[in-house]
Amino acid sequence: MSAYSPLSAQLDADTDVDVESTRTEGRRKMEWTLQHMPILQELRTQFAETKPLDGETIGMAMHVEAKTANLVELLALGGAEVAITGCNPLSTHDDVSAALDSNENVTSYAKRGVDEEAYYDAIEAVVAHEPTITIDDGMDMVYAIHEDHPDLIDTIIGGAEETTTGVHRLRAMEEDNELQYPVFAVNDTPMKRLFDNVHGTGESALATIAMTTNLSYAGKNVVVAGYGYCGKGVAEKAAGQNANVIVTEVEPRRALEAHMEGYEVMPMSEAAARGDVFITTTGNRDVITQEDFEVMGDGAILANAGHFDVEINIDELSELAVNTYEARDGVQAYELADGRRLNVLAEGRLVNLAAPVALGHPAEVMDQSFGIQAVCVRELIENELAYDPGVHNVPDELDREVAEIKLEAEGVDIDSLTQTQSEYLDSWSHGTWT
Ligand SMILES: NC(=O)c1ccc[n+]([C@@H]2O[C@H](COP(=O)([O-])OP(=O)(O)OC[C@H]3O[C@@H](n4cnc5c(N)ncnc54)[C@H](O)[C@@H]3O)[C@@H](O)[C@H]2O)c1
Repeated sequence: MSAYSPLSAQLDADTDVDVESTRTEGRRKMEWTLQHMPILQELRTQFAETKPLDGETIGMAMHVEAKTANLVELLALGGAEVAITGCNPLSTHDDVSAALDSNENVTSYAKRGVDEEAYYDAIEAVVAHEPTITIDDGMDMVYAIHEDHPDLIDTIIGGAEETTTGVHRLRAMEEDNELQYPVFAVNDTPMKRLFDNVHGTGESALATIAMTTNLSYAGKNVVVAGYGYCGKGVAEKAAGQNANVIVTEVEPRRALEAHMEGYEVMPMSEAAARGDVFITTTGNRDVITQEDFEVMGDGAILANAGHFDVEINIDELSELAVNTYEARDGVQAYELADGRRLNVLAEGRLVNLAAPVALGHPAEVMDQSFGIQAVCVRELIENELAYDPGVHNVPDELDREVAEIKLEAEGVDIDSLTQTQSEYLDSWSHGTWT
């Protein structure tokens, strides 16, 4: 087993921390969110009864906060041993991590504010549990296993990936014939992407930026870089708070969509001079660079909601700056030679999870994403032989199963197809007169 210690042992060694009350606070956060996660509640009942994950070891690298912790406990209730660490050095809630780590079948290595070495040591520590299933948010665990522990691959049944950037990386791996076990693209299924990426990122990124800065969107130019699922959500919710939204894109159809939906669309080089608040949601690097910083107005706010901290080129900004200081918690001001101050939130890491006040997506949204994660893990175990190595779409019946649990919990009834309607929809012989 790895020398890197689980969080409880790390906290025990820190005499300034009251471990018991830290755990209690973490558990309180988990209980609150679970009250608003009816899908996970239903799956908890089912998994506790049928133990579909009995005997499996699940290795996870995800944002360790209250909603994720409820997924972890669901998997443990289903019979699995779970080892988890963070997928971002700033998104862990230590109290939640400590509460998880006190669970008999769970080991949590996640700690907020770790440096690069500790981040990767913690991933190694999870891998040392020899997982039979992996769950990633960004693909760091799959990468570590393929690069450094290929001997484990034979015993791995499969994996699940939470986010767009992770799915991109997996598809690139598959393209190069490097991906050696099946992984579900949880991100791409409707019950995840249409809600989590759009509404979750829209609501939580904007709320976190507002709380971090104590500023309003009303009347401001909010520049949204990337009009994908996340960008659409951010743009719509910013417009709903009376911002003037400007969109930048590189994909002509997405740009046209933004234009037809009423937003100003222009290159970043033009938007840079117009924006008051910049929010990147591209999953790409160097989206805001030196030439943009050079024309931005004093006081501009820069935040990233994409997975990695590469969208705003902070190295270039640092080089340009004559001074830098922490203007507020989670706000680093960079002062340029002419006196302008550009304010970067959460070190350019995904703001809705990495800012000091960040809570991540709303519980109701993560209920759907994590409901899909749980049924995907169950599916991998139940139908192990059905999936070859590679990236797999979530089977539609699993997506529907989770949607139906949610509708029932919300008390929403819908119509069902009659037999005649089903036959009609499946038929190619019905035409204009037949
Ligand atoms: N903050 C969160 O909690 C959260 C939640 C879900 C996804 N994500 C992450 O957000 C990112 C975006 O996810 P998505 O689902 O919206 O992806 P997406 O592929 O639907 O959208 C990305 C968009 O960015 C555009 N783009 C790429 N390079 C660009 C550039 N240089 N300038 C302008 N536009 C550019 C693409 O054309 C595309 O339309 C990913 O990194 C994903 O992992 C974050």
